[in-house]
Amino acid sequence: MCGIVGYIGKREAYPIIMNGLKRLEYRGYDSAGIALYDGTGIQLAKTKGKVSDLEARVEAEIKTDGKLGIGHTRWATHGVPNDINSHPHYSNSGNLVIIHNGIIENYASIKKELENRGYKFKSDTDTEVLVNLIEEVQKVENVKLGKAVQIALNQVVGAYAIALFDRNKPDEIVVAKLGSPLAIGIGEDEFFVASDASPFIEFTNNAIYLEDEEMAIIRLGREVKVRKIKGDMLVDPYIQELQLNLEQIEKGGYDHFMLKEIFEQPSVIKDTYRGRLLADQGIVKLGGLEDHIGKFINANRIIIVACGTSWHAGLVAEYIFEDLTRIPVEVEYASEFRYRNPIISEKDVVIAISQSGETADTLAAIKLAKQHGAFVYGVCNVVGSTISRETHSGTYTHAGPEIGVASTKAFTTQVTVLTMMALRIAKEKGTISQRDFMLHLRELEQIPAHVEEALKSDDKIMEIAEVFKNAKNFLYLGRGYNFPVALEGALKLKEISYIHAEGYPAAEMKHGPIALIDEQMPVVVIAVNSNHYEKVVSNIEEIRARQGVIIAVVTEGDTTVKQLADYIMEVPKTPETLSPLVTTIPLQLLSYHIAVMLGRNVDQPRNLAKSVTVE
Ligand code: M6R
Repeated sequence: MCGIVGYIGKREAYPIIMNGLKRLEYRGYDSAGIALYDGTGIQLAKTKGKVSDLEARVEAEIKTDGKLGIGHTRWATHGVPNDINSHPHYSNSGNLVIIHNGIIENYASIKKELENRGYKFKSDTDTEVLVNLIEEVQKVENVKLGKAVQIALNQVVGAYAIALFDRNKPDEIVVAKLGSPLAIGIGEDEFFVASDASPFIEFTNNAIYLEDEEMAIIRLGREVKVRKIKGDMLVDPYIQELQLNLEQIEKGGYDHFMLKEIFEQPSVIKDTYRGRLLADQGIVKLGGLEDHIGKFINANRIIIVACGTSWHAGLVAEYIFEDLTRIPVEVEYASEFRYRNPIISEKDVVIAISQSGETADTLAAIKLAKQHGAFVYGVCNVVGSTISRETHSGTYTHAGPEIGVASTKAFTTQVTVLTMMALRIAKEKGTISQRDFMLHLRELEQIPAHVEEALKSDDKIMEIAEVFKNAKNFLYLGRGYNFPVALEGALKLKEISYIHAEGYPAAEMKHGPIALIDEQMPVVVIAVNSNHYEKVVSNIEEIRARQGVIIAVVTEGDTTVKQLADYIMEVPKTPETLSPLVTTIPLQLLSYHIAVMLGRNVDQPRNLAKSVTVE
């Protein structure tokens, strides 16, 4: 939620900050702002709307030659998106300027106290309260900026990644982190600050990722000084060499990041299993799992915690883990789990799934599970993310940066990792026959080719999208392994096209949703070859009998459903256990094309942000 970016060095800060904001816009896009400092005057511009609106305003309104700057792209929490609530925010004296990602929960009481001391507030934000609290500490305690930030942060409750500077210190930016990500890029005589490394990747490969409750003083001509916010201890920062490259964060000729990411799936699924799955040698191994496999085998149960699409991947994992390993699995919405006093014991293993590795609810669920002594395993995409550090062990999905707000390749790579985990554990536990094990390894290795094949139906799916783009509602049905795919298909459509869609287990339809079916209701049914095929065919007959319009995802060569459905989307044949990896592809494309045809902003759908670092 919210992207922050900062620069201090020898170049003009403006183009670096503006480009950085464009790359971070996936994190929030209801307003944006920038502050630049040339050592004499601060230039500040901010506006409701997108970074492109900010760009137009900056070029009309302010001088852009400062070599220190901070910028912000917002996903509103406190205060509606408008010009005033946009960041950066000044302190009352006009000396301090701040940007903030997160929430200060006790801002109201601090604000009251500051108002009693004569402070005035222009915005409704918690951020303006924080910058004035820092100013007040500076005044009362007569301390330098870094110390004032530290004292102030010890008084606030909440989550933050902040960057601020002081008009009296043109060579310094102070940053701090708790719960929201913050990376510091280290160049030659220049420093970068950002919510992720994408804004500075063309300038440096060296970055420090601050840990929670750490702050840093970034001063030109000095080494970055990192310290604990509580207790004042200095920290020796680990400088990480980044693997990211510019190409990965650009659209590469596609109209949208989402489309690029859909089409990347054959290659990123390969990246996910590269070096881990050696089918011809009968080996599947995951570095993070090998030393802890006993924990899984001896577990009373596995609890999977996640949100959104990652939760759907978890639901697929429930089927595959129970099927192959015979370990009971529960799949929990992290946001519910964390607040419902769940029963967790040391014999439980928790798997936390998160693309960003920053989702606040998932992180809180992990902390709760750890407090109860459970072993926590992470499945994350973003390397070095908070969740990947908070878990006892884990596996990265290696999907590369996912910029489109709607998750696509994150889902298929998560399912790939979870499938490999289930196979490895089942093998160790002896709950899978050698024949089945080998069959799964070989079939999993074929998945990229099958996804490639499924993507070839793009033109046909576009034609189907044209027919249904004006539908008001959609129903998605699936059974077994493909019930989670139905949920995921419905979520994809909702979030980018704003068409109402529901996912249901196909057999549940007759317990209620069947009442919705008429000739206006498109029903997407996943009807690939599986143990439930005949039953799904019966469900399709029930829909037909009520004049429902059927769009079916079928296995290549299918003849039965072809005769019953109005439209079909074919995918290659796979074992049922692996089928979600291919059946999800046409549903991603269908949502994408409908959203484009409706003129929606596919990569930045309204009200959403890529990583949800607030509750
Ligand atoms: O980064 P995470 O995987 O933890 O994010 C979880 C959800 O916020 C995310 O999957 C969200 O539902 C996506 N917009 C779905 O496309």
